Amino acid sequence: MNLLVFDENEKLNEAGANIIVSLVQTNPRAVLGLATGGTPVGIYEQVVRNYKQGLVSFRNAISYNLDEYVGLPEDHPESYHTYMRQHLFDHIDLLPENAHLPNGNAADPDAECAAYDEMIERSGQIDLQLLGIGHNGHIGFNEPDTDLVRGTHVVTLAEETLKANARYFDSIDDVPKRAITMGIGSILKAKTILLVIRGADKAEIAKRALTGPITTDVPASLLQTHPRLTVLLDRAAARHLS
Ligand code: F6R
Repeated sequence: MNLLVFDENEKLNEAGANIIVSLVQTNPRAVLGLATGGTPVGIYEQVVRNYKQGLVSFRNAISYNLDEYVGLPEDHPESYHTYMRQHLFDHIDLLPENAHLPNGNAADPDAECAAYDEMIERSGQIDLQLLGIGHNGHIGFNEPDTDLVRGTHVVTLAEETLKANARYFDSIDDVPKRAITMGIGSILKAKTILLVIRGADKAEIAKRALTGPITTDVPASLLQTHPRLTVLLDRAAARHLS
């Protein structure tokens, strides 16, 4: 595991963006696994800056997002489709047909999940999977459980996740209770993984995920088994790691 701690947010964002941009520079057909949430916003901003500086083109790249809420219209302000357009897709030359997110409104969600996995398979392995982490250790929306699911599937979000995501909605009752998420097997199959952890409120889970026992109670702890894992943390999130 390659663990990097940053005192300045700007430097962390640059480091994260550099990893994505240099991958696409060397492999223009790269398959990117993308995340939403507060964590990657600054990294996407820096990627967009690099794109506008003419340093990189995403014209031949492909992306797969980790997850999407079930039942939110695609153009809802808090859907992950909207998030990706706002923070990345509208600002770079990634072709819309190459930018994939699960369809949270599919009439047959199980068929949608199977089709999503088939598409990822057909694109070849994900070259770089970007991840944030939930306070309970979830990655994607793979919540702590006795068993974790390998492929894309529908999940019921944990109470803690609903609370954390309520900040984006008028009230916690408006947060969708279910989501479609890539499974833990798909995430671990990525050639390289970039996990980003920010904030004092993530310090405890950062320690458990990175140094604690490998357990389905902390899905992110499974990342310890990945041979090419880079973790970027700000100083606050790293405070329990010595
Ligand atoms: C988002 C995702 C989630 C988030 C996690 C952290 O696509 O899959 O696992 O990465 O919930 O969210 P933030 O970054 O908002 O703290």
